[in-house]
Amino acid sequence: MSMSQQDSSTVREGFPRPFPNTPTNVLEQFRLNGKVVVITGAADGIGYAVAEAMAEASANIAMWYNSNDVAIEKARGLAEAHGIKATAYKVDVSDPEMVQKAIETVAKDFGKIDVFIANAGMAISKPILETTLEEYRKQMSVNVDGVLYCAKYVGEVFHRQGFGNLIITSSMSGHIVNVPVDQPVYNATKAFVTHLGKSLAREWREFARVNVVSPGFFETRMGASPEAINEAYRMAALGRQGHVKEIKGLYLYLASEASTYMTGSDVLIDGGYVLP
Ligand code: NAI
Repeated sequence: MSMSQQDSSTVREGFPRPFPNTPTNVLEQFRLNGKVVVITGAADGIGYAVAEAMAEASANIAMWYNSNDVAIEKARGLAEAHGIKATAYKVDVSDPEMVQKAIETVAKDFGKIDVFIANAGMAISKPILETTLEEYRKQMSVNVDGVLYCAKYVGEVFHRQGFGNLIITSSMSGHIVNVPVDQPVYNATKAFVTHLGKSLAREWREFARVNVVSPGFFETRMGASPEAINEAYRMAALGRQGHVKEIKGLYLYLASEASTYMTGSDVLIDGGYVLP
């Protein structure tokens, strides 16, 4: 039963909460000087573009990668170019012990974790009738378990610190069913992490913000396949895939003090793909 006007007139102690002590100048709000940001899947694609964005805004960054050692060189390059600390860590996000250990190591190496960007993901784009159970489990282990392990263990750090900010890379595939290639498992993994993010925004309301980014097709290894590319151009109102430089600003916004009133949001960035 919903509240009566009388019930809702009761003043709750401690409410309203105070406004945050953030700069009023919007460009200052976007600066990340002194902040520590972890990015998973940071060797390439969206993850590297986001790492670059954080470094350009003067954050110190921990770049997690799975197998692509080029992340080590890229971290060195960003550190030199922007006068920040950047370190690469080899972490398979589907391994809970490795994730837990890496989060504690980063917290020790950098002194804290302000922002964690759970971005790593993979897809085996096939109809379920052609998907083996092994292929199903593989996608679940990275896209669902991997995000959950990262959230659980970085959540412990956020709770301990009393502050934190989790950003999850989901997908428009958590909103819509992709055409023309059927990929029900991938779609469902993304729906899971989108709702996980919203649920954590409530659970962690006393100490951390949580938001979700849902990209449409971006031109990376995980962008539109040859079978899907023409449909991707046709479906997107802007008639093309996104370039990774076009997603940097959104992650920076969510990571920064420009978005202090934002939690539990799921932001689509898809060139208008899901409009029709
Ligand atoms: P990508 O293939 O360049 O990046 C995926 C990253 O995840 C890679 O760096 C890969 O090494 C990492 N990864 C995969 N398995 C891992 C594991 N077990 N442990 C640690 N890292 C692992 O592709 P992209 O596009 O940059 O993908 C980034 C995220 O964006 C993914 O979550 C993807 O699902 C999502 N996305 C991408 C879209 C696109 O069109 N490119 C559309 C919607 C969502």
